[in-house]
Amino acid sequence: MRIGVFCSGGDAPGMNACVRAVVRSAVSAGHEVVGIQRGYQGLLDEDFFINTEGQPWMSLRSVSDIAKRGGTIIHTSRCDEFLTEAGQQKAAAILRKNKIDALVSIGGDGTFHGCVALAKFWDGLNIGCPGTIDNDLLGTDFTIGFATAVNTAVEAVDKVRDTAESHERLFLVEVMGRHCGYIALHTALAAGAEIVCLPEVDMDIAAIDRRLHELKQRGKKSLMIIVAEGYKYGGAAKVNEGLEAAGCPFSTRVVMLGHIQRGGSPVPADRILASRLGDFAVRSILAGRTGAMAGEADGKLVLTPFEETYSHHKPVPEDLVRLLDTLSS
Ligand code: F6P
Repeated sequence: MRIGVFCSGGDAPGMNACVRAVVRSAVSAGHEVVGIQRGYQGLLDEDFFINTEGQPWMSLRSVSDIAKRGGTIIHTSRCDEFLTEAGQQKAAAILRKNKIDALVSIGGDGTFHGCVALAKFWDGLNIGCPGTIDNDLLGTDFTIGFATAVNTAVEAVDKVRDTAESHERLFLVEVMGRHCGYIALHTALAAGAEIVCLPEVDMDIAAIDRRLHELKQRGKKSLMIIVAEGYKYGGAAKVNEGLEAAGCPFSTRVVMLGHIQRGGSPVPADRILASRLGDFAVRSILAGRTGAMAGEADGKLVLTPFEETYSHHKPVPEDLVRLLDTLSS
């Protein structure tokens, strides 16, 4: 069997470990792996990974020593052409022309929407792996890259806390997670932040301001607010403006962590998750399965149809939101 592997959408630490697992599992079982570079764009451009022998496929050695590396050696992209039916038909024709029987598609909800669209024009097997720092997909407890992104964010917030304490200031730290508060909530909890602003919780600026006055009265001198980029009332800068206008009782500064959260060597939890899911994706394909994402739920490997992985918002755990409130008092 010839299996294509690609990464699409925002990169996530652990994508390389996943590619490695796909290549090693498939090749050691006697199959061929074509590395499709730059996601759907690379598929449309027939941009395939060339190994050190000059061949357009990935050998066991092509993935040596990559599990510890951030980013993805086969690159990724967001592709406008593939959003059109013409682009999807072209991609299907290219897969047929190159005799690719199956795909392992590594990415997030945009990638899986693409897999569903492609299935209208191509009847090969397709199993996804959840590669996104956002942890916003249903069908897996955690996505590949989430643990590393939180680790990076917590390390940064710990440093910001030092200067916040020295100057007795309030810092608003904005973290990623387009529509989803998972990164913000885990970061806030691990870093001991006083307040977290989540897309999932409707707490307005006036409510934050009331809480700040309460905390001031209790003698708090330095504070951390973690703001998810998808927070309904704006990012950290906007929240800061609102707080200043409302008469915030602290001197404030804003920090945007941005793409730093997507980089760096993956933590072991991401490497292990990526390795398990990459291997499981290949085994699922060899068993004839298709149209689903490989995930890990309650310690077990499971397949979830692509459409279900993005069918509704993945809720953040309410008990963690309550816990943060209790601990910050
Ligand atoms: O989906 C992953 C993610 O990092 C989001 O958290 C963020 O909103 C988005 O990608 C940023 O995308 P880009 O790198 O295209 O600016």
